[in-house]
This record gives sequence, C-alpha cells and structure tokens, in this order.
Amino acid sequence: MSRTATIVGLQWGDEGKGKILDGLAGEAEVVVRYQGGGNAGHTVIVDGTKYVFHHVPTGILYPGVLCAIGNGTVVDVPALEVELDELRGQGVDLSGLRISSRAHCVLPYHRALDEAREQARGSAGIGTTKRGIGPCYADKASRTGIRVADLFDPPRFAELLRRNLDEKNAILVHLYRTKPLEFEPLLDEYRRAADAIAPYVDDTAALVQAALAQDKRVLFEGAQGVMLDLDHGTYPFVTSSSASSAGVAAGAGVAPDAAGRVLGVSKAYTTRVGSGPFPTELHGEPGERLRALGREYGATTGRPRRCGWLDLVQLGHAVRLTGTRALVLTKLDTLSGYGPLKVAVAYERGGRRIDTLPADARGWEELTPVYEELPGWEGDLVGTTDEAKLPPTARDYVRFVEERLGIPAVLVSTGPDRRALIQRGEVTGF
Ligand code: IMP
Repeated sequence: MSRTATIVGLQWGDEGKGKILDGLAGEAEVVVRYQGGGNAGHTVIVDGTKYVFHHVPTGILYPGVLCAIGNGTVVDVPALEVELDELRGQGVDLSGLRISSRAHCVLPYHRALDEAREQARGSAGIGTTKRGIGPCYADKASRTGIRVADLFDPPRFAELLRRNLDEKNAILVHLYRTKPLEFEPLLDEYRRAADAIAPYVDDTAALVQAALAQDKRVLFEGAQGVMLDLDHGTYPFVTSSSASSAGVAAGAGVAPDAAGRVLGVSKAYTTRVGSGPFPTELHGEPGERLRALGREYGATTGRPRRCGWLDLVQLGHAVRLTGTRALVLTKLDTLSGYGPLKVAVAYERGGRRIDTLPADARGWEELTPVYEELPGWEGDLVGTTDEAKLPPTARDYVRFVEERLGIPAVLVSTGPDRRALIQRGEVTGF
C-alpha cells in the first residue's frame, strides 16, 4: 500500500483543498508544498477559529508533523514572516516547519512588475493576485532569481539585489512610468526577514527523500488547480507554476513515482477568480445567487469569484492529467435550494461535439457547453456526515459525477468545519 498521497485542485483553485488537507494531515508524518507561493490561500476552521495559510502547509496545525515549503515554491519572505507571527499568535507550534534553501524569493520588484503589467494590459489583464508570482518564476527561468540560500550570504545577496534592482527599476521607470524602488530599505527589510526565517531553512528535498526512504507517510499539498497550471491550464490565464501532480517531483525534489495516490478536489459546481475562459459560467442573477450561497470571495484578495455549473469536460481533463484515483467533492451543501442543477457533459463547436479542451482563445469563445439537467434538493445539509441523511437527489448528484468521471467520490464535504465530511471510501490509502 502506498505511503504517499498528493492532493490537487481539479478546477481553477479554491476547491476547498485547505480543509481536506487539514483533515488528512493528521494522518501524515510529512506534508510538503511543492509549487506556488503567497497567491494561495488555504483556509482551515477548527472549533470556530479560522487559520489562513499562504505559504505554510496546513499540516502545521498537527504537532509533530514535518511541514516543508519545497524548492518549487516562491517565498515572499517578509509576508511569510507575518504569516508565521500570526500563526504563532494563534498558538500554533511552528517547530515542524522547514523552508527550502532552494525556493526562490519574491521581492517587491516582482510585485511592482506584476501590478504594472496588469495595469498596462487593462481589460486584457490576467487578473493575477498581484503577489509577484509570475515575475518571480520568470526570473527563476531566466536564471536571475534570488534563492532563500542567497539571503544568508550577505555580500552575494547585496550583489544580486543590486543587479536585479537596476534592471527592474529601468523597466518600471522607463516602460511603466512608476517610481523606482530603493536599494537600502529593501536590503534591510530582507536581512531582517531572513533572520526571522533562518531557524526553519533547510534542504527540504533531502529531508523528504529521507522520509520516503524510511517509508513515512508523506502528503504533497498542491495549491491552485489544474486549470491554472502553466502548461495544461487556460494559458495565458494561468499561474506560473505546475499546479498538477506533475509538479510534485520537480517542486519537492523527489522521484516522479513518489506522488503516490492522487486525490483530486472539486467543488460541486465551478468557480474562478481572475480572467479567462469559463464555459459554464453563470452570468447575472443566477451567478450572483450561487456566489451568495457559497460565499465565494477570494481568500487572498477578497475578490468576488465567478460562479457556474460543474463541467465534466474540464474535470475529465484534470482527472486524466493528474492521475486522480479518488475524487473529493466539496460544498455540496451550497447547492441546497438552488433549484434544478445543470452539469456540462460535452462541448459543441461549429456543430461538432468535442470532449477535449481547446488550446486557442478563439476555440474557447466558439464553444458552447452541452448540459444535462439534474433535480436539485432542499434542506440544510451543513455538517452532514452520514450519506443516508442526504436528500436522495443530492446522493444521485454525487453518483452522477463519480460515474461520469469513472472515479469514486471518497469524500463529500458539507460545510466549512473540519468534521463536516461524508466518507464514502478509502481516502489516502496510508
Ligand atoms: P497569479 O498566480 O497571482 O499570477 O495569478 C494568475 C491567475 O491564477 C489569476 O487568475 C489568479 O486569480 C489565479 N490564482 C492564483 N492563485 C490562486 C488561488 O490560490 N486560488 C484561485 N485562483 C488563484
């Protein structure tokens, strides 16, 4: 039996991975974040207390679990310092935290560039979280990035910072007409923040490899979702990392088969923050009603999320790509009282039925979803843990989704609380 598992988002992020990860992290000995950065926002509610994570793996809530921020992530060091202070203030024990010395640092010029580029694109913008994620990963690929390890070599850090700042300031000032960033305050800010994270910095890949060699239970924690994956999402309206299970190997520093059993998380409907294709989006009142029912506002930016029907073409793509063996369906309770429910089962383009995703912008514009309608249900499902207590049409909805996707829905989430879960099958396989 596999001792590792990977949790990925099957849609455009915000599927409720935080809560699911929190539920499973207690069974794990090691939890690893392998991509993304402060753009992510995992929310976990324990006994009414809300914990919000941007960089730190949710497993930190369980004492004794080793929690790694892997080399494939990008770390906004001062923001991480604030996150750590907040968690400490909530009484969370951070002794299990490790931060990869190979992770790249997000610097204020990354955030400034993210913002300036978005502004320059106007209505054609990506709708990024403006956390500097894209520019930071771009520097990594350009081999000009600053890694966590560099923070602890002061002369080298100063030299890298100077070189990067000269280049970025030239772009910011001459191309985007914004103010240049100053070297000294930035140097001081990062030196201080580096001191704050120093106790946690380590070779996380080596630590995870050692845990695997000892047959420990390791959970890889994906952020965002497959449709935001740099290669396989709705490019260019994507994030800049590999948000699929394929990111595990490179981003955690392990062999490709270490990802183990893949659990894919999907809402019972679809949401998306930011711009880009969303074939099943509900516009106007129907979309607003779903947003209100699901309280669909971003955890990181507070932006209202776009809402729409579940899309089995999109989910099928995500399931195949990630090797998802078991589905986690979240927010089933939100659909209570909505009325009849539609699910996209195919797309039509130019009079032809298609069940794959277009690569080009025009392809997305020209397709129309083909829906099947299912009866809705009434009643408050929040907190239900027993499948037998679900209205029959809610049970049918879950079965319809798992049958069409060809994988079991092993967990169904019925509310924000940690315990609001219906277990229908083997989850991690630990
Ligand atoms: P970036 O990752 O900030 O560059 O944003 C790129 C796209 O990914 C935008 O559409 C964001 O709204 C979206 N995005 C990034 N992180 C998340 C997330 O954690 N949840 C949902 N959407 C996200």
